[in-house]
Amino acid sequence: MKFNFASGVSSLIPVRVTACLIPLEDELGDVIDKALRRAGLSDDELSVRSGVPLGKIRDAIDYRYDLDSAEVRRLASALKLNEVGLCALHAGRYPLPEITGLPFCVWPLRMQHGVGVSNAYLVGECGGAEALLFDVGGSFSMLARDWPANVKSLRGVFLTHAEPEHTGGLREVMARFGRVPVYAPSGSGVEGAIPLEEGQPQNFGRLEVVSYSTPGHAAAHSCYLVSSRAAPRGAPLLVAGDLLFAGSVGGAYHCRRQLGLQLQRMIEIVPQNAVVAPGHGPMTTLAHERRFNPFCSAN
Ligand SMILES: [Fe+2]
Repeated sequence: MKFNFASGVSSLIPVRVTACLIPLEDELGDVIDKALRRAGLSDDELSVRSGVPLGKIRDAIDYRYDLDSAEVRRLASALKLNEVGLCALHAGRYPLPEITGLPFCVWPLRMQHGVGVSNAYLVGECGGAEALLFDVGGSFSMLARDWPANVKSLRGVFLTHAEPEHTGGLREVMARFGRVPVYAPSGSGVEGAIPLEEGQPQNFGRLEVVSYSTPGHAAAHSCYLVSSRAAPRGAPLLVAGDLLFAGSVGGAYHCRRQLGLQLQRMIEIVPQNAVVAPGHGPMTTLAHERRFNPFCSAN
């Protein structure tokens, strides 16, 4: 259950404005649970280390919160989490940045997923009829709800990882848009997709897409960095899949250690002015997550 709504406002340059309320993917209980697993601790051990009663920890993981601020700070210390970000989650006020500086347009296509949202993204020149599609949602009908009227064709489809909420709509997208190249991480098993290894730039008009292999959430998982060759000083867009969320990280279903290493690697090598487009929850920026994300201070 997630009741923590944070505002997601996209004000992109040139003009593209989307204002809506997007729930964070994870709330305090999810973050504590993921941090416990990352640390390899039991809830008993966390209670001893933090001095927080075991019952309160178990309640928090079950989304029942009876923690005071001092206890949250002690949990942050014991779990090596960013204290400011964890306290903000506890208060239901995790901050989100204004999204600015992209020299192209991004249209988030949001779909209900459980009690949260999963995202696909169209990226293209503002006002253009062509775009790139990053992930395809669970079905085309879900994508179509937010599909911008001006985008009539696709130049390419990029998949971050093969899970139903991110790739389930691929067959319908292909049927609707015809022969569009589909790129996916090497080893994803997506039929007909072109496997992309790390660092193979793909150019589409003035847009360049560079893939990064980022296993952890899944064995075959990629992030994509989109930039404009016409505006090299403009902010790039990091399509992060389920590696990094606003206020949290993806579940380490393949390998916890690799997810941590890839997160740290991307934080270090991606330009600090990058806008982050995660697979779930609201958009954010890399600089903002470095400052507030509970998991970004401990790597
Ligand atoms: Fe996902």
